[in-house]
Amino acid sequence: MTAKAVAEANTNIALVKYWGKNDDHFNLPAVPSLSLTLAGLRTRTEVSFEADLASDRLLLNEHEVTGEPLAKVSRHLDRVMRDLGVAARASALVRSHNNFPTAAGLASSASAFAALSVAAAGALRPGFVLDDAARRRLAVLARQGSGSAARSLYGGVVVLGTGTPGQVDSARASQVLRETDWPELRLVIGVASESAKDTGSTDGMKHTAATSPYFAPFVAAAPADLRQAMTAVQSRDLEALGHVAERSALRMHASALAADPAVVYLRGATIEGLHALRALRRRGIAAFFTCDAGPHPKALTHARDADAVAAALAAVPGVLRTIIAAPGPGARLIEDSGP
Ligand code: ADP
Ligand code: DP6
Repeated sequence: MTAKAVAEANTNIALVKYWGKNDDHFNLPAVPSLSLTLAGLRTRTEVSFEADLASDRLLLNEHEVTGEPLAKVSRHLDRVMRDLGVAARASALVRSHNNFPTAAGLASSASAFAALSVAAAGALRPGFVLDDAARRRLAVLARQGSGSAARSLYGGVVVLGTGTPGQVDSARASQVLRETDWPELRLVIGVASESAKDTGSTDGMKHTAATSPYFAPFVAAAPADLRQAMTAVQSRDLEALGHVAERSALRMHASALAADPAVVYLRGATIEGLHALRALRRRGIAAFFTCDAGPHPKALTHARDADAVAAALAAVPGVLRTIIAAPGPGARLIEDSGP
């Protein structure tokens, strides 16, 4: 007997960065974060529970994946099962497709664990409906798979709190603006590598927290960053939001660079991208730098300037191509077919 469901989720990019945990076991972030869910960059995942499978399998972009990525998926399926009060499950065939580079600093774990959470719930619970309450609950589960994944349950601008150590459901995601509330916002990505990075975000942030003398100041500054970003979002003030976003990203990287040994995601293209955006600002174009656990320079800007910003990033040596993304939707169930 087979029970399967398909779900999609889009990636999100943090404008106020999550970096570091205050509880490893429940994966509670050390700082609050604010993100923009991106249209067009998505994971599509089918979860199929099959009685004749000996163990869980993960096919990622048509390739069989084993080891820790598969183990994380298995643990997540168990987590969703327990939360739904389902006593047991058959082994699962998980087929997932990212339409953008995986593990390269474009937040594939965010869209991946958001889509996996929804597809697993759809397959485990016949007639599952992704209403507000289910979305809230799945965001708590997705956060345990990957912190940033909680934010991909929602579209538009999303906030994720920090939570109380030991309390699994204490760090929650919530929507601040729907994707239609600020439709002119754009995130331009200068793709500087198509391959996986050396240090994943989980390891990078743990090592930073353990060894960087700049980690505590980063954490201390985060609540003010969030407050200012929230005010800017409420008033649709791109300049103010961009200013905070650039500051938050650079402080995150400063804390990582001060780790021992240093965690270095920045490449030449990243720094040249930052300078290119600052040069655009001097010409009156509002474009603000951000960067995650990877080399890609990214820019927050207005739709009317997006082509000019993309052209400026495309001219940076080391930038291979550019992507322009508008605010995108939250995770959704595409189809389900219970037993
Ligand atoms: P990224 O910058 O892409 O988010 P991370 O290091 O945070 O990089 O996460 C990458 C990891 O997320 C991968 O190594 C894999 O374990 C997991 N992942 C990415 N995409 C998928 C997917 N579609 N299904 C399951 N796991 C995935
Ligand atoms: C730099 O959510 O990938 O993208 O919770 O360990 O899976 P885990 O980390 P992850 O880290 C995201 C780090 C970031 C900033 C952000 O998205 O807020």
